Amino acid sequence: MLTEAQFALIARQAKRRVGLALKPDRLAVVDARLAPLARREGCACAGELVQATQERSDDLLWDAIVDALVDPSTHFFRDRAAWRALAERAIPDILRGRAPNARLRIWSAGCATGQEPFSLAILMDELREEGQGATTEIVATDVSARLLDKATAGIFSQFEVQRGLSVRRMIARFERIGEMWRVMDRVRAAVRFEAHNLMSEPAAMGPFDLILCRNVLCGMDDEDRKATLERLAGALAEDGMLMLGAGEHAVDVTDAFSRTGEDGLFLRNAYWRRAA
Ligand SMILES: C[S@@+](CC[C@H](N)C(=O)[O-])C[C@H]1O[C@@H](n2cnc3c(N)ncnc32)[C@H](O)[C@@H]1O
Repeated sequence: MLTEAQFALIARQAKRRVGLALKPDRLAVVDARLAPLARREGCACAGELVQATQERSDDLLWDAIVDALVDPSTHFFRDRAAWRALAERAIPDILRGRAPNARLRIWSAGCATGQEPFSLAILMDELREEGQGATTEIVATDVSARLLDKATAGIFSQFEVQRGLSVRRMIARFERIGEMWRVMDRVRAAVRFEAHNLMSEPAAMGPFDLILCRNVLCGMDDEDRKATLERLAGALAEDGMLMLGAGEHAVDVTDAFSRTGEDGLFLRNAYWRRAA
């Protein structure tokens, strides 16, 4: 089992590298999460793995340790009601201020294995088919190269596609390859995956009309959540919107955003005022 001092060292690295806040009561969880990596590195346990970092001259082992600790959980159209609100409320609201042929730029920040940006690509495709959508460019980023590799492949197991996708959507936008399902080329081509750490400035990638940063900020302490939200505000178009995860909040830590509805799911830049 990790010692408290080793756990404290891991917690410092996790906060500094990706803004992951690890409370002391997570010691046993962290110990268990690091066991597979420890085995791969030829160490008997997580404690030995931490010791091994002191013998390395590069940072690669710390990268791998922190990568093993990020929460990769995701699924297609996660939080159904939120996606309905996105389709029925937020996207029409953004498009209302745009020219009919406008191109929307969307950022899925913290996209894990790709289910979120592919859900976006499917939704935008469906809206376009109904004559409501716009041409869309989706940029999907994550700090984990391991998760991005899977996302870029666009290949999912039966279990993964069943989590959140209706049979209609599965058949319309995926093709079966053996036991797996591959996102159709048209949907895949709509998404560009890139490595990006939300602890650094995203300004060069922006501005975006819509940013999804869902179930990422909840892993951060207030200090990193505030700083990250303020960086996101800087990458948002003046009349753009930020979509958080269900139950996540922003206005409690920063005044960079204002809520657009009771649920606090969609946020505008605080200084944005719709032209009368
Ligand atoms: C719980 S998943 C959420 C995935 C997706 N947004 C969703 O809601 O289903 C959190 C993701 O955020 C990523 N993440 C955590 N800290 C990050 C950081 N500092 N920069 C970029 N991505 C980060 C993790 O690697 C992980 O893939």
